[in-house]
Parts: sequence; structure tokens; C-alpha cells
Amino acid sequence: MDVLIHLLVALHIIGIASLLGGFLTQLKAMGQGTARFVPAMLHGAFTMLVTGVALVGLNQADDQPVNNVKIGVKLALLIVILGLVYVKRDDETVDRRLFGLVGLFTMVNIFIAVLWT
Ligand code: HEM
Repeated sequence: MDVLIHLLVALHIIGIASLLGGFLTQLKAMGQGTARFVPAMLHGAFTMLVTGVALVGLNQADDQPVNNVKIGVKLALLIVILGLVYVKRDDETVDRRLFGLVGLFTMVNIFIAVLWT
């Protein structure tokens, strides 16, 4: 079970790379007001959801403690991220404040994940 949990954490991190990496490639465009949600961001956000939910289930099945408040906050932020990226996935440009919010929430989730013990 441990190996499976660690594998899922690795996939969870690949999801972060895709979501945050996609965001970072658009930073210059964001400054010019021409950023768009690239497919890597949508796939990354979806990967975060699937692997995150699976991690909760596996940790519970393995009798490992799960911090429900922390997971709830991460899930709420991810739902906002996924909703925005999904709805606006075909828009050629996205308002820089909305685009920035997705990057901000992604980074907040990373800090919550590693600092909230
Ligand atoms: C953008 C969204 C997310 C980011 C950036 C993120 C980030 C991370 C990171 C960096 C870790 C590794 C932390 C460590 O092992 O110390 C982690 C672990 C984990 N994540 Fe996420 N996560 C996100 C969304 C979610 C969601 C939506 C869920 C559940 C529905 C979730 C559930 C978990 C669980 C259960 C773990 C392993 C146990 C723990 O450290 O709490 N994550 N996440």
C-alpha cells in the first residue's frame, strides 16, 4: 500500500508541474493581457483532483490520518481552479486578474500542502 501511496503522490506532483508549469509559460503574456489557459493547465488540474481524491481514499484505507480541514481547503481551491480553467479553456485570451487568480490559488495550495502539518 505504501508504494501505491507514494506512486500517487508522484503523479500528484506531476499534476502540479503541469498546472503550475502551464501557468508560468503564460506569465509574460499575462503581463500583456493576452494569456490563455493552455491544455497542460486543464490536464494538470484534473490530475490533481483524481490523484488527490485517490490519495485520501488510500490513506484512509491504510488507517493513515487524513487532515480533513486541510484537504477540504485544498479541494475548494482546486474546484475554483478547475472550474475557471475548464469554462475558459477555449477563450483566446483570459482577463489577467482571473488568470493570476489561478496561479495564486495553485501556489497557495502548494504552501498549504507542505506547511499545514
Ligand atoms: C492545486 C491543487 C493541489 C496542490 C498544489 C497540491 C499539492 C500537494 C503536495 C505538494 C503534496 C505533497 C505534500 C507532502 O507529501 O508533504 C500533496 C499531498 C496530498 N494531497 Fe494535494 N494538492 C492539491 C490538491 C489536492 C486535492 C484536491 C486533494 C484531495 C481531494 C489532495 C489531497 C492530497 C493528499 C491526501 C495528499 C497526501 C497526504 C498529505 O500530505 O496531506 N490534494 N498535495
